Amino acid sequence: MANDPLLQPFQLKHLSLKNRLMMTAHEPAYPEDGMPKELYRAYHVERAKAGLGLTMTAGSAAVAKDSPPVFNNILAYKDEVVPWMRELTDACHEHGTAVMIQLTHLGRRTRWDKGDWLPAVSPSHRREASHRAFPKQVEDWDIERLIKDYADAAERMHAAGLDGIELQAYGHLMDQFWSPLTNTLEGPYGGDLDNRLRFTFEVLRAIRQRVGEAFIVGVRYTGDEMLPGGLTASDGMDISRRLKDSGLVDFLNVVRGHIDTDPGLTDVIPIQGMPSAPHLDFAGEIRREVDFPTFHGAKIQDVATARYAIASGKVDMIGMTRAHMADPHIVRKIMEGREEEIRPCVGANYCLDRIYQGGAAYCIHNAATGRETTMPHTIPKAAQKRRVVIIGAGPAGLEAARVAGERGHAVVVLEAASDAGGQVRLTAQSERRREMMGIIDWRLARCEALGVEIRYNVWAEVEDVFAEKPDAVIVATGGYPLEDRPEVGHDLVVNTWDILSGHVPPGKQVLLFDDAGDHAAMQAAEIIAATGAQLEIMTPDRTFSAEIMAMNLVPYMRSLQRPNVTFTPTYRLKSVQRDDSELLAKITSDYLDLDHERRIDQVVVNYGITPMADIYFELKPHSRNGGEVNYEDLIVGRPQTVIRHAGDGFQLFRIGDAVASRNTHAAIYDALRLVKDL
Ligand SMILES: Cc1cc2nc3c(=O)[nH]c(=O)nc-3n(C[C@H](O)[C@H](O)[C@H](O)COP(=O)(O)O)c2cc1C
Ligand code: SF4
Repeated sequence: MANDPLLQPFQLKHLSLKNRLMMTAHEPAYPEDGMPKELYRAYHVERAKAGLGLTMTAGSAAVAKDSPPVFNNILAYKDEVVPWMRELTDACHEHGTAVMIQLTHLGRRTRWDKGDWLPAVSPSHRREASHRAFPKQVEDWDIERLIKDYADAAERMHAAGLDGIELQAYGHLMDQFWSPLTNTLEGPYGGDLDNRLRFTFEVLRAIRQRVGEAFIVGVRYTGDEMLPGGLTASDGMDISRRLKDSGLVDFLNVVRGHIDTDPGLTDVIPIQGMPSAPHLDFAGEIRREVDFPTFHGAKIQDVATARYAIASGKVDMIGMTRAHMADPHIVRKIMEGREEEIRPCVGANYCLDRIYQGGAAYCIHNAATGRETTMPHTIPKAAQKRRVVIIGAGPAGLEAARVAGERGHAVVVLEAASDAGGQVRLTAQSERRREMMGIIDWRLARCEALGVEIRYNVWAEVEDVFAEKPDAVIVATGGYPLEDRPEVGHDLVVNTWDILSGHVPPGKQVLLFDDAGDHAAMQAAEIIAATGAQLEIMTPDRTFSAEIMAMNLVPYMRSLQRPNVTFTPTYRLKSVQRDDSELLAKITSDYLDLDHERRIDQVVVNYGITPMADIYFELKPHSRNGGEVNYEDLIVGRPQTVIRHAGDGFQLFRIGDAVASRNTHAAIYDALRLVKDL
C-alpha cells in the first residue's frame, strides 16, 4: 500500500494534497436556498472521513445573479455563503481533505425564467441547444460587472478558508468568450485569440488582486471543443500554455469536447457502454507539453485505471467523481487492502441525469448518497439477531439481504429463477448495459461475505416460509409485464421482455407500442432495429421515452437514428387483429378519435410492470403487522412496530416493484431504509 501511486502526496504550491484522488466539481443539487447546508456538508464529510485527497465542491457555483441556478447551484454571489462554506471546509479539513470550489458564470447555459428572471448573457446571441435561452449579447458594462462578480465570489471563498478555487471554462461564459462559435463580438473581447482570452485574464488578475498569491486558483477548461469551427486541440494547447505563462493559475483541469448538446455532454462525461477514460491520453498530452500541475476526470470508474493515470505520469490528480458517489469510502478501502469491496459505479448516470430534470443527484444503487443525514453508508449491527427471510433476489431483495446481513441477522433468500438479478439481469442482456450487472454482482459478493444464504430455483410457498421460522419476511418478488388491455388482443402481441430475453425473435415489419416510456422499450427497439427490420416506435406521450433522461437517451438515439426506424409520438395502439398472414393494428390518439391502420407482422407492446405479489397476500394473515408499514417511522428512521394480529407471528414487508412499478433506485432505497432499522 505504501508504494501505491494513488496514495502518494502531491505538492501544489504550498498546499500538500495527501493523495492523488479527487472528486471533480459536481453540483449534486443539494443546496437549500442556494446554500451548502447540513446535507451538503455531510455528503462531503463522508468522503473526507474516508481519506479523499481533494474535494472540488459545488460545480458551477454562480458568481452573479444573471447566472441563475439552473440545477440548484450554490449562490456564490451572496455573502451568506461564507459561513456555510466555512463550516463545510473546516469539517473536511479535520480529516485532512483539501477543499476547493468551482466558480462560474453559466453565460447562455441557463434559462432566463429562473432566479431573478434576468436575461442570460453571452458574447453572442446564439442560443445553446440544451437550455434553449436566447442570450443577450454582453455589453461593456456587463463585462466590468462580471469581472468584479468573479473577484467578489473568489474573495468570499478565500474568506471561508477554502484551499482554492477553479474557474469553469467549458460550455460556460468564460469559454463562450474563447470559442469562435459563441463569440461574435468585435475587439477588444472578440476577434483573435488574444481578444477572446482577454475576459479570462482580466478575471484572473482581478481575482489575484483580491486573494493574493497564497490561494490556489485553477481553470477547468476544454482543450478541444471537437466541433467544426470551434476551438481545436492546437488552440487548446495554446490556451494551456498561456494559462501557465500568465503566472495567474496554479493548476489546469483538462476536459475535452463540448457540452451544448446532450450528445456532446455525454461524450465529455461518458456513461455506461462507452469507453473508459476516453480523454486521459489527451489530458496527458497537455500535461507533458505544458509541464504544469494537471487534473483530469472522465469515466475513471475503477481504481486500476486511476492508478494507471497517476503511475504513467499522465496527470497529477485523478478524478473519480461518480465513483465516489457510488462508494464514498474508496480511499479507505484502498488503504485497507479492500479494493474488491468497493461498490462499483456502473455508469447508469441516474445521478447526473436527475439534476438536469430539477432533481437531486442520487446514485442508482447507493441510496445513502445524497441522504447522508438520514441514511447510513456503514450499516450498524442490530442489538438483537433475527431470522430474516427474503423472497426474490432482484435489486430490492439483494439490497435487503445485504443490509440485513450487515445488521448481523441470519438471512435466507429464496429466488425462483436460477440466477439473481431480476429485471437488472434482463436489462444487462444488452451489451451496452452490461455494466448494470455490477449492481447485482457487488451485492452477491457482499452477501456471500456476510454469510447470507441464497437458494435458487425455489418458488416460495407459504410452507417454505413457515419452515424457516422467520422473525421477518420481506417480499421482493418484483413484477411482470402489464397486459391488462384486452382490446389490444394480447394473444397476438408480444412484449418487450420477450424480445429482451431472446424468447421471441424480432419480426420484419414491427410496430413497437411504448406506453411506459422506459428503458425496456428502447432496448427492445435496439435489438429489433439491429436486425434490419422496419420498426415504428409509437407512443401516446408527447415525446418518446418520457422516463429516459437526457444523457441516457444519447446511445439509444445513436443506434436508432437509421433509415429503418421511425418514431411516432402522440398515437395510441387501439387493437390488433389477424388478417391472413399479417397483423392489422388499429391506431387512435388521445387527441382525436382516429382510425388509422398499420399492416405489420409483429406488434411489441410495453405497458410497464405490474406487481407480482401473490405470496405477500398469502402470508399477510399470518403476519403480526398484516404487511402494514408505518410511514412516519420509516421516514424518520425508527423500527417498525405495527401490530395488527397479536401473537408471535413474523413481521411482513413488501418492497420494490412487488409494491408498485418504480425504478432500480427506488427498489434499493425501499430496502435500505426499511432494513437498516430491522
Ligand atoms: C451530479 C453531477 C454534477 C456535475 N456538475 C458539474 C459541474 O457543475 N461542473 C463541472 O465542471 N463538472 C460537473 N460534473 C462533471 C464531473 O466533474 C466529472 O467531470 C464527470 O462526472 C466525469 O467524471 P467521473 O466519470 O469521474 O464521474 C458533474 C457530474 C455529476 C455526476
Ligand atoms: S448513478 Fe450510476 S453513474 Fe451515477 S454514481 Fe451511481 S452508478 Fe455511477
